[in-house]
Amino acid sequence: MNPNPKKLEEIVRENMSSLEGTAHSYAHVERVAKIAAILAEKEKADQELVQTAALLHDIGYAVGEPHNETGAKLARMILEQTTNLPEQRIEKTVKIVLRHPIAFRDKLETLEEKIVWDADKIDLLGVIGIARVFHWMGKKPFETTVNVCLEELKPIYSLLNTPSARKIARERQRRTIASLSALKEELSTEDLRIS
Ligand SMILES: [Fe+2]
Ligand SMILES: [Fe+2]
Repeated sequence: MNPNPKKLEEIVRENMSSLEGTAHSYAHVERVAKIAAILAEKEKADQELVQTAALLHDIGYAVGEPHNETGAKLARMILEQTTNLPEQRIEKTVKIVLRHPIAFRDKLETLEEKIVWDADKIDLLGVIGIARVFHWMGKKPFETTVNVCLEELKPIYSLLNTPSARKIARERQRRTIASLSALKEELSTEDLRIS
């Protein structure tokens, strides 16, 4: 029995219910799964593998840090209990979950690992990425958060692995840079300077 996408969505949503309203909620997972579907199609990757791993990639946040490791364990348990996927396929899925954090950028082996990694990072680009960082930084001063965005978000685009990811995220990257410089100007009211 292959993973039933609707059933798996239900399981992941339920497991992640305590994360609602955070930067790593089920809503983030849904966006990543949609982005990953586009990339898998464009890159002619294994769509079922990509979708299963994308849905499970952040489930570890509901358990604890390091979320990729706790997530990999939970993903394996869910797949073993709710599907009869062969071990080799479960292992491939679990590896995608394990290797999705930014630190694994140069250790990715399969196209599907690269696609889920890219999809997850594309959700950190553009206005949505900035909004997520503001949410995550909570009560920190806006100036601090803008600097964190500049340091952490700006380099992400150049790290994307697949040509399709770089293509579809080009506009988002432009928006990342434009929005952050607008924010910087507005925080100092420089944009209102009379010339
Ligand atoms: Fe993650
Ligand atoms: Fe994620």
